[in-house]
Amino acid sequence: MTEISNVARLSEPLKFAYWVPNVSGGLVVSTIEQRTGWDFDYNKKLARIAEESGFEYALTQTRYAASYGADKQHEATSFSLALLAATERLKVIAAVHPGMWHPGVLAKYIITADHISNGRAAVNIVSGWLKSEFTNFGLEWLEHDERYVRTEEFINVLRGLWTEKEYSQSGKYYNITDFTLQPAPVDVPGRAHPEIFFGGNSTAAQATAGRVADWYFSNGKDLEGFQENIAGVVAAAGASRRGTEGHLAAPRFGLNGFVIARDSEKEARDTLREIVEKAHKPAVQGFRDAVQEAGASTKDGKGMWADSTFEDLIQYNDGFKTQLIGTPEQIAERIVEYKKIGVNLFLTCYLHFQEEVAAFGRDILPIVRELEADLARKNGAELDLSQTPAAKVEVNA
Ligand SMILES: Cc1cc2nc3c(=O)[nH]c(=O)nc-3n(C[C@H](O)[C@H](O)[C@H](O)COP(=O)(O)O)c2cc1C
Repeated sequence: MTEISNVARLSEPLKFAYWVPNVSGGLVVSTIEQRTGWDFDYNKKLARIAEESGFEYALTQTRYAASYGADKQHEATSFSLALLAATERLKVIAAVHPGMWHPGVLAKYIITADHISNGRAAVNIVSGWLKSEFTNFGLEWLEHDERYVRTEEFINVLRGLWTEKEYSQSGKYYNITDFTLQPAPVDVPGRAHPEIFFGGNSTAAQATAGRVADWYFSNGKDLEGFQENIAGVVAAAGASRRGTEGHLAAPRFGLNGFVIARDSEKEARDTLREIVEKAHKPAVQGFRDAVQEAGASTKDGKGMWADSTFEDLIQYNDGFKTQLIGTPEQIAERIVEYKKIGVNLFLTCYLHFQEEVAAFGRDILPIVRELEADLARKNGAELDLSQTPAAKVEVNA
């Protein structure tokens, strides 16, 4: 039995997100059949299915240089904006690299997206690992921990420009003087400004997210790995007095998982085996070489992909490690085990996105809600579903 962590929020329902396939080739680097498109029409339909299926968020991927099994990709912020315009409730998180954007330009862009979508725009700040993407653009490539120094300043600028007038900040990377952005972001109850997600696993990433991110996103992890991973974030958040009066709210935690839900556990495991057998080996190996610039390049050698096996890397965000593989019941039970240790949001990916996102809402989500209600009750709390989008019963995928 998993112990309930003191960061778990038992009365808050888990939130669900999916990776937007705005990059070709699907979310596993394998020649197994993936009925997942990367074009806008496919994604527009997927986004509508997702919001009808109880998903609250969609996350785009940012990549510029075609690579590692993905030879085409759409730009993340414009794609996110188009998805916001095509949906009614879904919040779309646009991935952005600090080294590629000026934070003031991004702050302004997101305010416009927020107004177009009536308060549904969000960002995922990613500090970058694909060195050639920066150097071949003629941009400076900062050493690992320094990238997080810049990221922290970048997030402070975003938050400052979204919440204050005549905002000033002077630092190593950005100098902002008396700047006011009008209009301000949409005033959404319970939200201070467009939400700031943050993806990263290394020691520097954890410390930065703990100080300034609203949401910390982790690559796929087993239960123990996730506990280890958030410890650094929780420590940095505590040292910054987050969650106390006059300080930022405490960070929340999102975890990636590749979902293989089938009628029997054997069928699900067989599908995983087929993904692995049909892995595109040169592409996975190339990816493995490139990600050495991530956490593996730091002094303690910890971070994203630092302990990933070849098999793990076939899903390029370690999604198999979370083990959302089996029958809907088994997957729902596993999801609730993660809730006990502090996961607030699941970021999910699939072989066949449209069909499987609909199936997730239909077959897995209702069981998750029952288990969550049960867990809350047993611990003297009550699950509050009043703010949570429910899955509609019939979704045509
Ligand atoms: C959920 C999630 C989404 C990410 N999305 C992107 C992305 O779209 N583009 C990108 O270049 N890096 C992305 N990253 C990678 C991170 O920003 C960062 O480069 C990576 O974690 C390696 O650094 P680390 O070892 O310091 O953690 C993502 C990471 C996570 C956890």
